[in-house]
Amino acid sequence: MHLLSTKQVTKTSELDNLFSQANIMRNPWQYGIDPVALARGLVLGIVKDEGSTRTRVSFEVAMKRLGGDVTLLELDKNSSIAKGETVEDTIRNMSEYVEAIVMRHSKKGMVKHCSKFSQVPVINAGDGDGEHPTQALLDAYTIHNEIGRLNNLSVMLVGDLKCSRTVHSLIHLLSLYNGNRFYLISPKDMQMPQEYKFLGMWHVEHEEIDGVLNEVGRDIDVVYMTRFQRERYLSNEEVIGYLNRPKSESLIESIASSSDKSYYTLSEHNIKCLKPECRVLHPLPRNSEIPISFDSDPRAAYFRQAKNGMYVRMALLNNYFRKKDFFSKGLSTP
Ligand code: NCD
Repeated sequence: MHLLSTKQVTKTSELDNLFSQANIMRNPWQYGIDPVALARGLVLGIVKDEGSTRTRVSFEVAMKRLGGDVTLLELDKNSSIAKGETVEDTIRNMSEYVEAIVMRHSKKGMVKHCSKFSQVPVINAGDGDGEHPTQALLDAYTIHNEIGRLNNLSVMLVGDLKCSRTVHSLIHLLSLYNGNRFYLISPKDMQMPQEYKFLGMWHVEHEEIDGVLNEVGRDIDVVYMTRFQRERYLSNEEVIGYLNRPKSESLIESIASSSDKSYYTLSEHNIKCLKPECRVLHPLPRNSEIPISFDSDPRAAYFRQAKNGMYVRMALLNNYFRKKDFFSKGLSTP
């Protein structure tokens, strides 16, 4: 039973179930549960070919808090990929050693493809500009915790909606609830792809934050900021140029110097338009979408959101190991 896309979630009760278990993971002793007994003796494999801070660390810590262990495999020059081994064979082998695999890959569809070669459940931790289902689960959990509901919300999704995989996964989850309205703010060439806009979804598309907030700022319940996904826009020439660079220069440095664009920043004026109950989320990492001065504002929910990721992933992993599925039977066939 792999978790590859939020499209596998078809009923809101599946989320209720996950969220109540994530709540238990905040303080399991209170419920008479010894968390380190839940995954004792089990090992989680993390396989990835691109950067990760929160997803990797929170999965790792979640597993350790459940009493299990983790092994990390980077698909780089230190793995047998450098000797010509295929990613498919790598996953097949990894699945002989561990109880579940968390996989992040820079190519859309690659995690789903590789899951076919695994003997154990594979969890998509981000596939290129495709999806990032566990991030969306923790985003929805955060909205539920902060606002108290997941229906009748006005949600502003801002930034690179074309390549930000977190919003692709999140918009589906929120679309399971009635009455949600989406303000999609992005440059014209970075709009939300059609495949993620469900039929009949109430949405408007804009290029500027200001106009929307000036008009309906007091109605907005959630502002979800994303960064410009510059790594998805690299041309072949840029990649080759990077590979030929002196070893000390990092990819991010070389890209930052060539095209440092951050399209949207939440300005002081924008912030003034938001009501006290509004919450600002960001999957992080941020570039300059949200000023650091906003971090201490009660409406800034992004660090609580990152912490929630650990509890949601504890709940998710525990269910995998208990062989229970949160999600409907559709889970295996996204
Ligand atoms: C996101 C990702 O990797 O898609 N980060 C995360 O997992 N928390 C967002 C991003 O990289 O912009």
